[in-house]
Amino acid sequence: MLDTQRDGIQEVQPEKVLRFTRGERISHWVHASSFFLLLFTGLGILSLSFRPAMVIFGGVQVARLIHRLIAVVFVVVAGAMFFIGDSRYHWEWLKSAFHFTKADWQHISAFPKEFFGGHGDYPAQDKYNGGEKINSLLTIFGSFFITVSGVVMWFSTQFPAGLVRWAYPVHDLSMFVMTAAVIGHMYLGLLHPDSRVSIFGMLSGYVPTKFAKAHHAAWYERVKNQQRAVPGK
Ligand code: HEM
Repeated sequence: MLDTQRDGIQEVQPEKVLRFTRGERISHWVHASSFFLLLFTGLGILSLSFRPAMVIFGGVQVARLIHRLIAVVFVVVAGAMFFIGDSRYHWEWLKSAFHFTKADWQHISAFPKEFFGGHGDYPAQDKYNGGEKINSLLTIFGSFFITVSGVVMWFSTQFPAGLVRWAYPVHDLSMFVMTAAVIGHMYLGLLHPDSRVSIFGMLSGYVPTKFAKAHHAAWYERVKNQQRAVPGK
C-alpha cells in the first residue's frame, strides 16, 4: 500500500497539503537539536559567564566531551539523510538553495517589510521562497565552515599551527552568523503572524492549503498537478 509519508508523495487534500516528509522532518529536528546542544556546550567552553551552567553536565570537561559527540551527530545524521530512505527531497532542497530566480530576488527585496509585520509585494514562490534560500545557504555554508574548523581544532596536532590558529575565529564567526540566522528563523516559524503556521509543516508534515496557496503558490500548483498525474490519486 502507498504510504505518502514513507514514499514521499506530496499529498494534497482539500484542507491541507503535505509539505515535509518524515525524512525531511527528522533531519531538520536532529540538525536543530544538535545545533542547540552544540551552542549551549560551546558557549560554556568559550565563555566564563556560561561556565557555571555546565554544572548540569557535571562540569566543563564533560561538556567538552558532549560537544564533540554531538558534533558527530550534527554532521553524520543530517548528512546520512541525503543517502538513506527517500532522499530526493533533500537533494531538491540543496539544489534549490543554489538556484535563485527573479521571483526569489523579488521576495528578498520585499522580505524586510514582511519580516517587520508589513505585507511585501512579491510573485508566487516555489517550495522555498527567496528568504528561505538565503537561510538555507547560511545553514549550508555555516555548517561546512563550523565542521571543518572544528575538525582542525579537535585534531590540532595533525594540522599546521597556522591553520589551527585560523580555525578558532572561523569556528566562532560561523557560530555567531548561524545563531543570528536561527534567531530570525525561529521568530518566523514560531511567532511571526503571517508565517508561524509553517511550524505545522515541520511537526505533522502538513500545512493548511490556504497557507500553501498564499506563501508558496508556485509549489502548491506544481504539487497539485503532479498528484493528478499519479494513477489512483
Ligand atoms: C526551535 C527552532 C526551530 C524552529 C521552530 C524551526 C522551524 C522551521 C520551520 C517551520 C521550517 C519550514 C518552513 C517552511 O515551511 O518553508 C523550517 C525550515 C528550515 N529550517 Fe528550521 N527551525 C528551527 C531550528 C533550525 C535550526 C537550528 C536550523 C539550522 C541550524 C534550521 C534550519 C532550517 C532550514 C535550512 C530550513 C529550510 C529553509 C527554510 O525554511 O528557511 N532550523 N524550520
